[in-house]
Amino acid sequence: MILISEASSYFPLRIARGLLVILVLLQSATCTKLEAAKRDSLQLVQVLFRHGDRAPTYTYPNDPYGDISTYWPEGLAQLTNRGKMQQYELGRYLRQRYDGYLGEKYTQKELYVTSSDMDRTIMSLESNLAGLFPPVNKWNPNIEWQPIPLRTIPWKEDKLLHVNVRCPRYHEIRRNFLSTSDVVKKINEDNQEFIQYCAEKSGLNARTVKDLYPLLDVLYAQSQHNLSLPEWAQGDTLPKLIQLHSTTNTWPTYTDEMKRLWGGPLLGLLIKNMMAIAGHLGSNPEDAHSVSHGVNRKMLMYSAHDSTLARIMNTMGVFEPHCPPYAAALIVELHRDPDTHEYYVEIHYRNDTTQAPYLLTPEKCGFPCSFRKMMEITKPLIPVDWAKECNLESRPTDFFNLRMGSSTTSTGVDGELIHSCYLSPSQLTLMGIGLFSMSALAVLVIGKVLQGRKEDGYYDDSGSRPFFVSLWQNKPFYGAAYEKL
Ligand SMILES: *[C@@H]1O[C@H](CO)[C@@H](O)[C@H](O)[C@H]1NC(C)=O
Ligand SMILES: *[C@@H]1O[C@H](CO)[C@@H](O)[C@H](O)[C@H]1NC(C)=O
Repeated sequence: MILISEASSYFPLRIARGLLVILVLLQSATCTKLEAAKRDSLQLVQVLFRHGDRAPTYTYPNDPYGDISTYWPEGLAQLTNRGKMQQYELGRYLRQRYDGYLGEKYTQKELYVTSSDMDRTIMSLESNLAGLFPPVNKWNPNIEWQPIPLRTIPWKEDKLLHVNVRCPRYHEIRRNFLSTSDVVKKINEDNQEFIQYCAEKSGLNARTVKDLYPLLDVLYAQSQHNLSLPEWAQGDTLPKLIQLHSTTNTWPTYTDEMKRLWGGPLLGLLIKNMMAIAGHLGSNPEDAHSVSHGVNRKMLMYSAHDSTLARIMNTMGVFEPHCPPYAAALIVELHRDPDTHEYYVEIHYRNDTTQAPYLLTPEKCGFPCSFRKMMEITKPLIPVDWAKECNLESRPTDFFNLRMGSSTTSTGVDGELIHSCYLSPSQLTLMGIGLFSMSALAVLVIGKVLQGRKEDGYYDDSGSRPFFVSLWQNKPFYGAAYEKL
């Protein structure tokens, strides 16, 4: 340094010195990011991840590996040993990243974890926690594991992790989007030949890009397990399917209204969790309680799906179209600047174990993204009264001119809305008779429906369809299919 400053009157050396200073500054900036200094400012970590490697959710008519019990002894859609290992590794990574911020010993004061209501996400979370919190004062000298409580959201009520709830308004705009949007039309037209090729070879009834999802699901899982794919599916087929699904991943939350109804509840939860820590929920004990359960915890974890990651990232404006891999983790950190005491948010995305997580920056917020700004830009995307915005009031029962006895909405754990309706006994009887005659009619038409028409639903890895597959194959229901019925 001395040498350089003495010679600083020489122009080239002045440039060199400038560069050196910049380099040193840059280097110290990247270093402190990972070191203790950063931890001093950390206030809350929220980790949302996809489950680990799993068996396929579907099979297809011409699948050479269609004999599930031979090739996938865990059962359809179940976590594999490899998946457990990926999650254990993610847990170890989180331990290393937050060691010191999190105590060495598990305590309920620091951690609160929630899973979607699926075997593979629950098992993933358990494997992850085994890596994050190995036992310290062992409860048994021979067992390298300790129990840690975890919660699930019943799948019928889940509008956060594996969204499965009715939202008529959302379904209506989604249908419109799929049938009228130029984006959708173009991609379907551009890929007609490929879709026909896949349909013919696989025996799947596929007419749109979206219909190819089950094929991607199966082929991807098989290739991950070194099962050699049939000749027609080798070469470009799988990469092309992945590329197409990367695009369709943005469709469920394509417009702002779709974001608000479909991604908004989860975004709202993440923001509210941070508001509780940053003191923005103030004196409303109900709010504060529903979020942090009365305790300001240091880490909240959510075990979920690729569709969850795509949905929340696209809603936050940080999604680059891709297929989130197994055990991919979105890490939302709330920091407080030790000098200015301002809160700011950092979003890290670990979708590659061979490198440091990507630092994602919502375009509207910039970096560093102050929490105030974050609240401002996300506000329009968070529903105030989700049930109402979904038009949940206009239920199918209105069709029969039945009047609801009363209807209440209350807030449950994690800010979940619980919507309940009461019908009188006579109304129920009338409805029962109606339903009985309708179901007789339904039996007549159901065969046709199963053969021909496809619904407009999105395929994702959450296992919404295996039940059709099981019928084709005349086999009992498995795995996720069972959970759905
Ligand atoms: C598949 O093969 C690769 C390379 O030979 C190997 O590293 C990997 O462990 C195999 N995967 C499985 C699930 O057997
Ligand atoms: C990982 O995430 C980055 C940032 O969003 C994205 O550009 C990349 O394609 C992703 N890669 C994989 C393997 O998911």
